[in-house]
Order: sequence, then structure tokens, then C-alpha cells
Amino acid sequence: QTGTFTYDPGFTSTASCESGLTYIDGDQGVLLHRGYPIGQLAEQSSFMEVAYLLLNGELPNGQELDKFNSTITRHTMLHEQLATFYRGFRRDAHPMAVMCGVAGALSAFYHDSTDITDPQQRMIASHRLIAKMPTIAAMAYKYSVGQPFLYPDNSLSYTGNFLRMTFGVPAEQYEVNPVVEKALDRIFILHADHEQNASTSTVRLAGSSGANPFACIAAGIACLWGPAHGGANEAALNMLHEIGRPERIPEFIARAKDKNDPFRLMGFGHRVYKNYDPRATVMQKTVREVFESLGVNDPVFEVALRLEELALKDDYFVEKKLFPNVDFYSGVILSAIGFPTTMFTALFALARTVGWVAQWNEMISDPEQKIGRPRQLYTGPTQRDYVPVGQR
Ligand code: SDX
Repeated sequence: QTGTFTYDPGFTSTASCESGLTYIDGDQGVLLHRGYPIGQLAEQSSFMEVAYLLLNGELPNGQELDKFNSTITRHTMLHEQLATFYRGFRRDAHPMAVMCGVAGALSAFYHDSTDITDPQQRMIASHRLIAKMPTIAAMAYKYSVGQPFLYPDNSLSYTGNFLRMTFGVPAEQYEVNPVVEKALDRIFILHADHEQNASTSTVRLAGSSGANPFACIAAGIACLWGPAHGGANEAALNMLHEIGRPERIPEFIARAKDKNDPFRLMGFGHRVYKNYDPRATVMQKTVREVFESLGVNDPVFEVALRLEELALKDDYFVEKKLFPNVDFYSGVILSAIGFPTTMFTALFALARTVGWVAQWNEMISDPEQKIGRPRQLYTGPTQRDYVPVGQR
């Protein structure tokens, strides 16, 4: 018994790990970070508070939050030679390809924070990763559009700094829009951690061998890129644009139900949630707030709302318990803020870095942890003898 949760021994015996960071009840649509409901965190806290909570187990008081913000801010710059590293990519490289490469390249630069047996070095590596991911993502965007990189501005918030590095140019003063800053900070909170999803499990498995923490995060970025995982936000918005107008929705719902058609409704369904993804609820509310505040009237939002309404009435989706997930609405907001679809998963990786490093720390600091070794069910041939090639 821990708090109000009871462990099903059967479940525990099949669980890949024990963790105290995030609790999901897929049937009830519940998501807690260290016991706090995601809706309360998204509405009332900041991404840096949630990062501190996931890393340290408690929400910070004012002094702790100021110190944490100051620590993260001091690590936002990249080594100058890493800026050169970007020159090796084609301009049309997908930002996730760039982020995966640059995050991995961090392992070639920060040798003073890779002794994973030293708690202090583990925390420095964690702070560096959380601090540098916005800089890496912003530089990936700037490189793709041929604009100069902007250095971090330490007078701005974590999210405001990212917005300026992404959309600012040296020739002009960049003013952070507080509505956009708050909406994006909330989106980062919604993407911070999500228990043992594919990319977090990748980071844990890579980290369980004692690998360089920066290289482990690069592995997580690679896994998140897939369209069945973090790539779904980009795919969901592309799908909404392809649908184009509400009259075409039945055609796409029919395709999603057709077993002979590989098409799936992107942003719908989840391995764990068999109820509404609580993050999608907050996301939909945030779309309305951003659109009203920025005076945006993007018909794609109407298509999304109508698609959700029709799908949730459809027997196939009801029977298979397919609900909108976190990726269904996120692209609509990110597009309204000005991000190209290719940057959507990069933003997911930026936010999920907090969960990855918190989960990595939890695993590495467990003295009992061993190298991961997933088991298999063998389905190949039984033993047989070799036949020389001349007799085959
Ligand atoms: C994320 O794990 C995490 O926590 C991930 C994540 C995180 O924060 O880290 O929450 C982020 O990855 C969210 C999911 C984003 N992906 C998408 O939105 C892509 C579209 N969704 C699907 O591809 C799918 O729903 C998955 C991959 C998310 C889950 O696939 P599963 O495990 O096959 O889903 P399931 O077992 O619940 O499916 C039940 C049935 C299956 O049909 P049958 O085999 O029973 O006939 O529903 C079908 C599926 O084929 N189905 C869909 C569907 N999703 C599942 N049919 C149409 N459209 C869909 N979107």
C-alpha cells in the first residue's frame, strides 16, 4: 500500500520498473506527477516548478524555485564548437534529426558531468540537458530557415527565452507575448513526463548500462520522433489540414475503421488511456484561450472539434475506447503561435527532456538497479544441424 494506491502483485511482476514520478490510471483518465493532478499543475504552476517537482519530489518554495531558475539559466548556452556542428547538416534536415545529433554530441563536450556514480555530476548533467534543449531546438529551427542563431537572454523566463531564440532576429527587439508564453509553458507541462512511454523506456534502458547521460537522451529523442509516439502531433495537424473541412470528416473516420486501410486517426487512441487523456482536455481549453486572445480564427480548429465530436459518437471508437490524446490539439496551438509542423515533435522533445532526466536520475540513483534485459518469447526453429552450401 502506498497512499491510496494498491499494487496488484500480478501487475508488479510484469512491470518493467518501479517509479514514483508519474501515476496514470488509463481507465479513469488520471495523470498525477508526484501526486499532483496534471490539471492543477497545468493551470496553476510553471514548467520550471514541474521540472523541480519531477527531479526532487516536492514542489519548490519561492527561494528554491529562484535558485533552480538561476541554475538552469546559467546552463542555457551551448559550447561554441557545437554551433559549428550544425553546419554539418543539410538545411532541409528534420529538426528532430538535428536535435538527436546535437544532443548526442553533448556527450563529446561535457566530460565533467558524466561520472554517474557522483550525485552532484548527475544533477549537473540533468540541469545542463534541461537548460540546453530549448537552445538546441531553437538553433535547429534557425538553421532550417537560414537565420542567425540568437544567444540565450538570461533576463527572460525559460519559455520566453525559447520563444525569443526561435522567433527573434538580431535586427529587431523581440517582445515576448505573455499569452503565448503562458500557453507554451502550459504545453511544456503537459508533455513533461508520462510514466514508462516508449521514449522514456528507451532512456532508462540505455541509461541502465551506465551510458553517457547525454547519449541516453539522444536515444530518447530518436524514439520520440516516430509517428506512433511524439511524431503524432505533426501527423495530426497534417491530417486535419488534409481533411480540410467538416464535410470530409466521415470519409476519414471510415478510413480509420477500415482494417485494410493503414490510415489511423492521428491524435486518437493510446496504449494506456482508455478514457479521455486529461492532457487533451487542458489542451483543448488552451486552444480556445490562445485563439481568443490572439484573434486567431483557424478553420482547422473547427475541423478538430467536429472530428472529435463525430468520432466519440462512432461505435468503432466508443467500443475500442479511442479518445483524443495529448497530440490531437497541440499542433493547432503550436501552428497558431507560428511553429512549422516540423518543429512540433522538437517541442515535445524539449519538454519531455525533463521527464527523461528525472526518470534517468531515479533509476541511476537506485543502488539496486541492474542493466535492463527485456525477455523474449522465442518463435524461431528448434535446433537443427548445419548443411554445407553445396547441399542446400
Ligand atoms: C503519445 O505511451 C505514452 O504515454 C505516449 C504519450 C506520451 O506522453 O509519451 O502519451 C504520447 O505517443 C500519444 C499517442 C500518439 N500517437 C497517435 O496519436 C497515433 C495514432 N494512434 C495510434 O497509432 C494508436 O492509438 C497508438 C499507437 C497510440 C496505440 O496503438 P495500440 O496500442 O494498437 O492501441 P490499442 O491497442 O488501444 O488499439 C485498439 C484498437 C486496435 O484495433 P484492433 O487491433 O483491436 O482491431 O484500436 C485501433 C487499433 O488498430 N486503433 C485505432 C487508432 N488507435 C488504435 N484505429 C484508428 N485510429 C486510431 N488512432
